[in-house]
Amino acid sequence: MAAPTSSAVPVARRVHGFTYAIRNIVAEAKKVEAAGRTVRYLNIGDPIPFGFATPPHLVEAVARAMRDGFNGYTPSPGIAEAREAVAHDFTRRGLPTAADRVLLTSGTSEGIELTLGALVNDGDEVLVPTPTYPLYTAVLAKLGARTVYYRTDPDHGWQPDLDHIRRLVSPTTRAIVVIDPNNPTGAVYPRETRLALLEISEQHGIPILADEVYGDLAYDGPVPPIGALDPDALIISFSSLSKAYLAPGWRAGWLAVGRSPRLDETLAAIKKLADGRLCSPGPMQHAITAAITGDRSHQVAFRQALRERADLTVSRFNAMPGMRCVAPTAAFYAMPQVTLPRGQTDEDFVLALLRETGILCVYGSGFGTDPAGGFFRVVFLASPSELADIYEQIAQFSGRFLGH
Ligand SMILES: Cc1ncc(COP(=O)(O)O)c(C=O)c1O
Repeated sequence: MAAPTSSAVPVARRVHGFTYAIRNIVAEAKKVEAAGRTVRYLNIGDPIPFGFATPPHLVEAVARAMRDGFNGYTPSPGIAEAREAVAHDFTRRGLPTAADRVLLTSGTSEGIELTLGALVNDGDEVLVPTPTYPLYTAVLAKLGARTVYYRTDPDHGWQPDLDHIRRLVSPTTRAIVVIDPNNPTGAVYPRETRLALLEISEQHGIPILADEVYGDLAYDGPVPPIGALDPDALIISFSSLSKAYLAPGWRAGWLAVGRSPRLDETLAAIKKLADGRLCSPGPMQHAITAAITGDRSHQVAFRQALRERADLTVSRFNAMPGMRCVAPTAAFYAMPQVTLPRGQTDEDFVLALLRETGILCVYGSGFGTDPAGGFFRVVFLASPSELADIYEQIAQFSGRFLGH
């Protein structure tokens, strides 16, 4: 037998490109906690730790499914009732959808991963907004594909720069990611922008991956799926129970592939990949039916709570010297910008804030913005009084950091 070696077992190269700042930064927070400081976690978009409760009829649907013995594998695309409920809901919102083109997934996340896996080869390009929700770039890195960032513009309410997108399309572009309503910016795209995105997709035959997980959390009320503007467009839409139904830990999501026959092979490829992961969590699939066919009044209160917190967030940040914040119109995130001293990065700012105050935000470059740009993301799910306290501390800290 060969002599034992002390060298570490090598890990795959693809792991190096796989970064997810929202959770990677927790390692720093743990060090701060170990040094005796309480950390306030404003890094993860999970309403549950902030006191928002999963609607009881969804909890009951899962419990009942378990009691009734639905504890085995389900078909890979999910149980028929829930797929039908999702399809019916899309149809009601203006996008006629057949249940056969709906798959239940372990959250929006798995839908995104399955779809990118079905669409991109090594070296292919995918257009992704900057800032972006970082799962897209992480999965693309894992697949050996290239993220090509298109700008969204804080000077125009974080709307996508359509000309930039047009210039970036290349023969190897395989998809355009559209996150609307957006994380991390809280932007909602107007009809004209959506129509322009559809036109670009149509002109080049490139599908839109429509991340619509915040579709019910626009403060003015639910926004229709982008596919409602053209049911024959090349669109694959993703959503879940995580945000608007307050059940992120259940990993209960879905995707819907547009009805165009041009997407038939994509649908077949996604289904083929989905077979390999057996199914999404079974009892939670029953909650999807309950969520979509049942009472949604919790969303009215949730949207109201979010609007109140968004207003507070924007007014507090905009009152801080050297800081500006575009008003979000959906979801529970804001992306303030601090005018950084020369040579400093957004990560320097966020880590110093964490170490001095115990407040954990995520630096904008974790979402693909320029590290010198000074952006950082705040999750504003805490109560207004707690947020007021947090923002007071951020104001004092940034005053010191910026030397005001
Ligand atoms: C834009 C966006 N897409 C997808 C996800 C993942 O959601 P899920 O819990 O449904 O996987 C998130 C979670 O924060 C998100 O913000």
